[in-house]
Amino acid sequence: MASLPTLRLSGTVPAAAVLAVPTRPGEPTELVGVVPVEVTGLLAREKAKGEPGELVVAPAVGEQRVFLLGTGDASAAAMRKAGAAIARRAKGSASLALDLRALELSPEGTQGLADGLLLGSYGFTLKESAEPRTLQDITVVVRQVKALTVALDRAVAVAKATAVARDLVNTPPREKTPVWLAAQAKTLLKGLTVRVRDDRELRAEGWGGVIAVGMGSSRPPRVVEATYDGGGSRHVVLVGKGITFDTGGISIKPNDSMVTMKMDMGGAAAVLATLRAVADLKLPIKVTALACIAENMPSGHAQRPSDVIRQYGGTTVEVLNTDAEGRLVLADGIAYADQVLAADVIVDVATLTGAMPVALGKKIAGLFTNDDALAGQLEGAAERSGERLWRMPLVEDYRVALDSTTADLRNIGEPKLKLQGGSITAALFLREFAGGRPWAHLDIAGPAWSGGEDDELTKGGTGYGVRLLVTWLEELASRPVRKARQSA
Ligand code: BES
Ligand code: MN
Ligand code: ZN
Repeated sequence: MASLPTLRLSGTVPAAAVLAVPTRPGEPTELVGVVPVEVTGLLAREKAKGEPGELVVAPAVGEQRVFLLGTGDASAAAMRKAGAAIARRAKGSASLALDLRALELSPEGTQGLADGLLLGSYGFTLKESAEPRTLQDITVVVRQVKALTVALDRAVAVAKATAVARDLVNTPPREKTPVWLAAQAKTLLKGLTVRVRDDRELRAEGWGGVIAVGMGSSRPPRVVEATYDGGGSRHVVLVGKGITFDTGGISIKPNDSMVTMKMDMGGAAAVLATLRAVADLKLPIKVTALACIAENMPSGHAQRPSDVIRQYGGTTVEVLNTDAEGRLVLADGIAYADQVLAADVIVDVATLTGAMPVALGKKIAGLFTNDDALAGQLEGAAERSGERLWRMPLVEDYRVALDSTTADLRNIGEPKLKLQGGSITAALFLREFAGGRPWAHLDIAGPAWSGGEDDELTKGGTGYGVRLLVTWLEELASRPVRKARQSA
């Protein structure tokens, strides 16, 4: 599993293999004395503008390599870009110092910087010949160490949790069985209350969606229920889609669509890692993570298109496409959160529909919710964390597409109605199980996976959702409870 460099704040500049000093647009030199070069001329020759993440090589000082690092307006977003750029450049060196004493660094800027430095240094490989990441120590030199310590510690905890989520997503599906993923959750969440339901218990309790999706695989499904209780009277339940591999089942996917489907447990990874961070940060709130885990395989034991299943709590569903499996496992989890846990707010996180990145692209998740206050909270958290969301409509006119004559619901919209909007009908399906409680659904099919290096993102699993959810929960924990059923 991947490890991250250590990151600390200091008031003085330590000896380090790489030194970076900030440059900002229109403000070229506070560097005289720090770097013994004529910086203004150097930046002009390089046509550098101090834009976030811009790197200019300065003459080395003895053994030390020196970079001028563009930090733009020093906002969270600018520092995230800058952090990622210098972390990548310093990858092969043992230590990195950033002398940011010339900057007015805010707590938000510090968080963005830490995201960029730590998550930009993340890498995953199983190659035995791979060299271990050399960059071990990063020191950020600031004028106000005390004022920024809380922000830095918080950012480190969240980055670590994000790296764990990435590891879980990046693990190949041969190893990543439901049993393995549940065991990983237990290890990750040591010290918290963790219950793993096996397939026998799931069948006995009526988790019909998880059982139906998992029964095609020789590797049985699991549900992880983990709770952290930091006090307060509000109970948040996070439900994660944990399909360890999605072949589509009998409604099998073509190969090209299947190759990245080890990521189909990105929602489960995000909710489990979020719980770890929430516990590490000791937030004064009660949070349960429910990971609904199964492998979707075709076989002689698999469910068939047109089968009727009974979800947790009794709703019957006509399964017309076995590739629309995420909603089946989530429906059980959401119904359980409503009927048994009596959640005050439910948020599910899922790589649910291929249509979502078609609409919003790879960088933005779709947000569906029945609660405007909750929408506002999540949109605010997205803004602050840098994990972007866009609210999508729960179009009432499309609900008829889920009507079935045989069962309570169809698992895909009736194609004859030609309503399209596959991400919306999927969300409408999930809403049926929330019992009218404040509920939000994050369709992360786009941002859960990155095709390459992109600022703080690295190729493969992104851990999308951890930074967003922790940011939201911090905010929620800090505000008084309003026990109205209509609003989170
Ligand atoms: N896991 C997929 C969705 C997905 C696609 C995630 C691409 C990430 C990238 C999901 O289970 C699925 O197969 N959805 C189908 C639904 C359809 C059968 C109604 C889809 O989007 O094609
Ligand atoms: Mn599928
Ligand atoms: Zn899926």
